[in-house]
Amino acid sequence: MDKAKRKAIIAGNWKMNKTPSEATALLNEITPLVKDADCEVIACVPYVDIAAAVEAAKGTNVKIGAENCHWAESGAFTGEISTGMLKEIGVEYVVLGHSERRQYFGETDETVNKRTKAALAAGLKPIVCVGELLWERECDITEEVIARQIKLDLWDVTEDELKNVVIAYEPVWAIGTGKTATSDQAEEVCAFIRAQLAKLYNQAAADAVTIQYGGSMNDGNADELLSKTNVDGGLIGGASLVAEKFAAIVKAASK
Ligand code: 13P
Repeated sequence: MDKAKRKAIIAGNWKMNKTPSEATALLNEITPLVKDADCEVIACVPYVDIAAAVEAAKGTNVKIGAENCHWAESGAFTGEISTGMLKEIGVEYVVLGHSERRQYFGETDETVNKRTKAALAAGLKPIVCVGELLWERECDITEEVIARQIKLDLWDVTEDELKNVVIAYEPVWAIGTGKTATSDQAEEVCAFIRAQLAKLYNQAAADAVTIQYGGSMNDGNADELLSKTNVDGGLIGGASLVAEKFAAIVKAASK
């Protein structure tokens, strides 16, 4: 399948930024700027912002996502949020396995897999994040790390479910550092991810998966990164908090 047939997706990951009223204000800035987008546009926002964000995005082409979810339907998991809660409030996408969750909150491939399965079962579309640490790249084990994450995070995900999965390649060393992977580095790993998916499923299934790049993507480098064959979109942190910058990235993906 050629790239033009895959769904290009630009998603903002707001991380722990913006209060509900600030979320409304930012979305009110973003939505008119991206209304003619020829790609999927998503804002993944903190849990407490979701209601306000869904309201602000109503009637627009911007979809709202969450930044995590738990795998159990309900129960004694203080502080956690279930897939059913997210569905009911109007969430469509959910970021899973972000490196900040892996680094600071003990997330493992096993828990990412459980969350991914639960999200899919609930009809949510997971954006599953993978990526190597700087140390792992320097030791030349990037491909081993990525292959392991892809295999474990998608363990037991069926070919049919894979249609609703988005993969985000986020080299940990490029997140929030201003250090972007070169477009060749991004393409190399995104192509590798697709090859792994082809091995685990088949070529047609792999060809249909949207693979995003994330890590200091901004209005200045989006064009170049998105021009690559296997880079189908972006997961944007810092630049997604500035309406004009986010809109410029959406525009770059709409070409
Ligand atoms: P930055 O764009 O701020 O580097 O963050 C990337 C990211 O982690 C998106 O999930």
